[in-house]
Amino acid sequence: MSNTKGKKIGILTAGGDCPGLNAAIRGVGKTAIVEYGMQVYGFSSGFLGMINQEYRELQETELSGILTLGGTILGTSREKPFKEDKKQFNKIDKPKLIRKHYDEMGLDALVVIGGNGTQRTASKLAKEGLNIIGLPKTIDNDVWGTDVTFGFDSAVTIATDAIDRLHSTANSHKRIMVIEVMGHHAGWLALYSGLAGGGDVILIPEIEYDEKVVANYLLRRAQNKKPYSIVVVAEGIKHKKGKSAAQHISDMIEAETELEARQTILGYIQRGGSPSPMDRLLATRYGASAVEMISKGEFGVMVALKDNKIIGMPLEEVADKLRTVPTDHHMIVNSRKMDVCFGDGKRL
Ligand code: F6P
Repeated sequence: MSNTKGKKIGILTAGGDCPGLNAAIRGVGKTAIVEYGMQVYGFSSGFLGMINQEYRELQETELSGILTLGGTILGTSREKPFKEDKKQFNKIDKPKLIRKHYDEMGLDALVVIGGNGTQRTASKLAKEGLNIIGLPKTIDNDVWGTDVTFGFDSAVTIATDAIDRLHSTANSHKRIMVIEVMGHHAGWLALYSGLAGGGDVILIPEIEYDEKVVANYLLRRAQNKKPYSIVVVAEGIKHKKGKSAAQHISDMIEAETELEARQTILGYIQRGGSPSPMDRLLATRYGASAVEMISKGEFGVMVALKDNKIIGMPLEEVADKLRTVPTDHHMIVNSRKMDVCFGDGKRL
């Protein structure tokens, strides 16, 4: 875009929320308004705002004071416009509506902030001809194509703090504490918070665990005068239906070892509250970079970090992929050497 003055850009936050969304909105909005003289329109509740034409122009004043706020000032939803709604009576063509509203508003570009599902939608909208830029966020850190998503560092901090607290009570009572953190398909949060919190057992979806291995490891610790242990599990590990991962592992430990176990599910606490300083910086950097890309007419990409450099990763490549923990990740390799158990019996 040679002359950016007066150009109109839209922005929305979609999918599960995470700390840093407001920092990203601020990064986009302030850069667009202050540096490029653009007009910025914030859509409410993710793609629902585009479908229902719920939006407002964001003034620069409104973007002050939100850097440290959790949640998103725009609201979010899990609306997936390309997913067929079987219950819907009068079928509406949501992608067509989005395109129509984008054209009617005279938007020059749209910034979508979200996780995997959102980047997939963004890729499809780019194919429909919209000028789209994606911004990767999620506490799960599982967006393919970037080294890190914002929200992750805050969640690691929150989960690590919780594990620290559970450590002292585990020690007092000589119990096994099982802590469940989020992550359905990727174990990044369990791995990072588990290691930062000094976890003894860390179970992630990427490594198949054996219950006997976990039980024997905990018994060996107890016999070696380590009467309490910390077990960190990702919510997505294999477990019995109808039970949480934490409950399943806690019950299994009591049944197999006769050691006393307790379970804690951290849940949405991991997604709430003020972003960490690192997430504020990353979200701001992503936001500012998105506008730089718009100013150069670079569309159909997700702002990504590769070796601490910002790049535009084609959305087509990002869509339908997931970034999981490699089982030979250096943190796994190193911690195995320090007797951390990943439930698969290696180095026991
Ligand atoms: O933000 C990602 C995530 O936290 C997953 O780890 C979790 O399973 C999911 O969102 C749950 O979110 P919701 O209940 O909002 O759909």
